[in-house]
Amino acid sequence: MDKVLSGIRPTGFLHLGNYFGALLNFIKMQEENECYFFIADYHSLTTHPKPADLKTNVKNVLIDYLAAGLDPEKATIYIQSDLPEVCELSLLLSMNVYVGELQRVSSFKEKVRRQPNNVNAGLLTYPILMAADILVHRADKVPVGKDQEQHLEMTRDFAQRFNNLYEVEYFKLPVAYNFGNELIKIPGLDGSTKMSKSDNENSCIYLSDTPEIIRKKVMKAVTDSGPTEPNQPKPQAIENIFNLMKVVSAEETLHFFEEEYNQCRIRYGDMKKQLAADITAYISPIYNRILELRDNDEYLKRVIRQGAEKAHENAAKTLHDVREIIGIKKF
Ligand code: TYM
Repeated sequence: MDKVLSGIRPTGFLHLGNYFGALLNFIKMQEENECYFFIADYHSLTTHPKPADLKTNVKNVLIDYLAAGLDPEKATIYIQSDLPEVCELSLLLSMNVYVGELQRVSSFKEKVRRQPNNVNAGLLTYPILMAADILVHRADKVPVGKDQEQHLEMTRDFAQRFNNLYEVEYFKLPVAYNFGNELIKIPGLDGSTKMSKSDNENSCIYLSDTPEIIRKKVMKAVTDSGPTEPNQPKPQAIENIFNLMKVVSAEETLHFFEEEYNQCRIRYGDMKKQLAADITAYISPIYNRILELRDNDEYLKRVIRQGAEKAHENAAKTLHDVREIIGIKKF
């Protein structure tokens, strides 16, 4: 049985990128694998959220997880900060990670560019903490979107380095995983190639958006005046709309609009209306469950308590082994 693990930072509600990149596949996998799903609250501290916001966001992500179909009886659902073993493993791994390689990570360079006034050490060591999240459960597969590929490569490097240094074959080398051959990247509605909350709120569709909000956001999506010659390649913003349709709409619908585009008959207003309706239909069961779960604090607390216990059981075993391998507390 494979061990599967994934995590999401609590920065707000989950959007379609999180859902298709990190969640949908996982929901399918929980039936046949040992699955761990956690809320990466430590990781979200790099941007200094207000304490009250952090609390609310953790709760909202938990609700979104459950509403999307994660089953606490099948998968272990927990909060990162409930698992102190992660911090210890992160520290132990960090002794064998080089500052230079951390400085070369694309997401770090991007953060330096975007937030030059807050280049904190947590941003630099982010990939070590992430490796600890994964290795603490000795996961085989990690469902993630394309943007996390490099972090997974680093996790494999750190695991291999640990094994080499101590001449053991302790850590498995986990692979990034999604449902196609390729990792997925859900585009934004603003013409950007990645749906991301940090870029533009309106470029994201959240699982908790009402049909009305979805319609408004989709109708505002960036398009152009349409192709002037048949069978032309699509500009990025148009490609994005088609890519969104690919994940939520029926094949015939996509095919119809592809034909319209290729024959220069496309009416983007019609296409967007259809897309908004298909997104709404796709997420409405999730949205309805979100509403049900919002006021069920007792249940949510139970899920998190149970998840912390199960995650701890597994993580404690790893830390016991790792301490032994390293030679800590031999006496
Ligand atoms: P985060 O919180 O930025 O995103 C959570 C997950 O959603 C995926 N994702 C997307 N996938 C496709 N298209 C998009 N537009 C899109 N936007 C986001 C991300 O790839 C990710 O899988 N570092 C992680 C959190 C983390 C983690 C881990 C993940 C911490 N430790 C261990 C896996 C394993 C992060 O910031 O994801």
